[in-house]
Amino acid sequence: MRICCIGAGYVGGPTMTVIAHKCPDIRVDVVDINKARVDAWNSDNLPVFEPGLAEIVSEVRGRNLFFSNDVDAAIEAADIVFISVNTPTKTYGHGAGSASDLSFVESCARRIAEVSKSGKIVVEKSTMPVRTADVIKTILNTTGLGFQVLSNPEFLAEGTAIADLKSPDRVLIGGDEDSEEGRKAIATLSSVYERWIPAERIIKTNLWSSELSKLTANAFLAQRISSINAISALCEATGADVQQVAKAVGSDSRIGPKFLNASIGYGGSCFQKDLLNLVYLCEHFNLPEVAKYWRGVSDMNRYQKSRFSRQVVDCLFRNIMGKRLAIWGFAFKENTNDTRESPAIDICRDFLAENAKLAFYDPKVSEEQIRKDLCLTVDDPRVEFCKTPYEAAENAHAIILLTQWEEFKNLDYKRIKKAMMTPAWIFDGRNSLDHRLLLDLGFLLRGIGKGNLS
Ligand code: NAD
Ligand code: UDX
Repeated sequence: MRICCIGAGYVGGPTMTVIAHKCPDIRVDVVDINKARVDAWNSDNLPVFEPGLAEIVSEVRGRNLFFSNDVDAAIEAADIVFISVNTPTKTYGHGAGSASDLSFVESCARRIAEVSKSGKIVVEKSTMPVRTADVIKTILNTTGLGFQVLSNPEFLAEGTAIADLKSPDRVLIGGDEDSEEGRKAIATLSSVYERWIPAERIIKTNLWSSELSKLTANAFLAQRISSINAISALCEATGADVQQVAKAVGSDSRIGPKFLNASIGYGGSCFQKDLLNLVYLCEHFNLPEVAKYWRGVSDMNRYQKSRFSRQVVDCLFRNIMGKRLAIWGFAFKENTNDTRESPAIDICRDFLAENAKLAFYDPKVSEEQIRKDLCLTVDDPRVEFCKTPYEAAENAHAIILLTQWEEFKNLDYKRIKKAMMTPAWIFDGRNSLDHRLLLDLGFLLRGIGKGNLS
């Protein structure tokens, strides 16, 4: 069996690496039109940082895992073709700002139709709006070659991608359950996963349920974060502690403890995009009340980010002009170099609008990426990029912790306090530091939803 994956991104790269690792007899070709990305996958400096990824890549690359720009050859030789390209929010025309841009998916389908000499199983790995498989099928059916289209959305989270892929809560495969060929295709794809995932964790559904389940799963996760973030504002107003509330609430087995960490708001390439897509679909299917319900989740996220940056400005005497702020962390979450939709972007923009000076430190995000995200020129005097969190904190009026990197927990805060301006503020946007210790050292402190901090 040969597998081709179109799209060597955050999903295609790690997913195919694990498939190649678990299935040494299957040749896996990951192809992409982006030459720099493919070159990076073929180098020691992988384009994606994920704990454990580099080790597995070095084991399987060149054995049964290959990265290349030769899209056509890989499609032609494959039995199963995964489409794992980006499906960003549309920025133009009808549905701009909420619908998914399916142009990359469509061009993959057209390419597959053009170069295939035999029918194949085509798998939607990208997150797609419900009923996208219809589009792919229509394009492929023009060939008369007998393709089967499956939906197999990916549930990995960045930063834990390898662990998630090795032991997923579930694998979802949607296909044409009503035809013999459809059932056969579902079984073929399932047999790949069954080599390392127990069969009972592989859920088989029809195409539309699978496509919609992915959007729904992300919407539910985002909703939990917005719910606890909404409560965090109330905690700050009343003296309650959001972590204590989350623990009490999450101990109910019907609710569960995960995804109840109040924060500066969720980021990442998926939640916002998929929520907006869900809103768009509801509007498209004339369900305005349902659309409004889900839009509220996104509105709350925006509110949480601006509430945080406003709080920083308010605490620093409503004036941060010329003040040095140490920005600790820029990635949208820990253990990744990804900054897509990072809450740090909006928050830092707010600070720059107030003419603050920002000293950045993130262990994995490059200076170039931060400049790009904030639209900064190379000679912008308001920003500085530091090699350590200590350097960023030097002479700073405040430390703004935006990403929950583990290393921030174990720093010498006595030394940091000494090097800062007074009063020395810490704004812990992830509630990840030892607040009691910091208060004892004389820092002024704000957490998220920590109404009890003095
Ligand atoms: P990405 O932007 O990192 O990678 C997509 C890749 O596809 C790019 O390298 C791009 O060059 C390539 N590409 C686009 N059009 C192409 C074409 N016609 N031919 C060949 N290559 C092409 O995106 P990603 O984060 O890997 O996400 C991919 C999909 O998976 C999206 O639909 C996303 O919603 C979904 N998803 C992402 C995550 C995540 O954590 N990032 C998790 C689950 C699902
Ligand atoms: C998410 C989904 O979890 C994953 O299943 C899907 O395949 C892709 O989208 P990802 O965006 O990579 O994964 O990371 P996730 O761990 O979900 O975090 C998303 C954002 O929510 C991050 O900014 C994170 O910091 C934030 N978050 C998460 C919180 O603010 N509080 C929480 O309790 C959990």
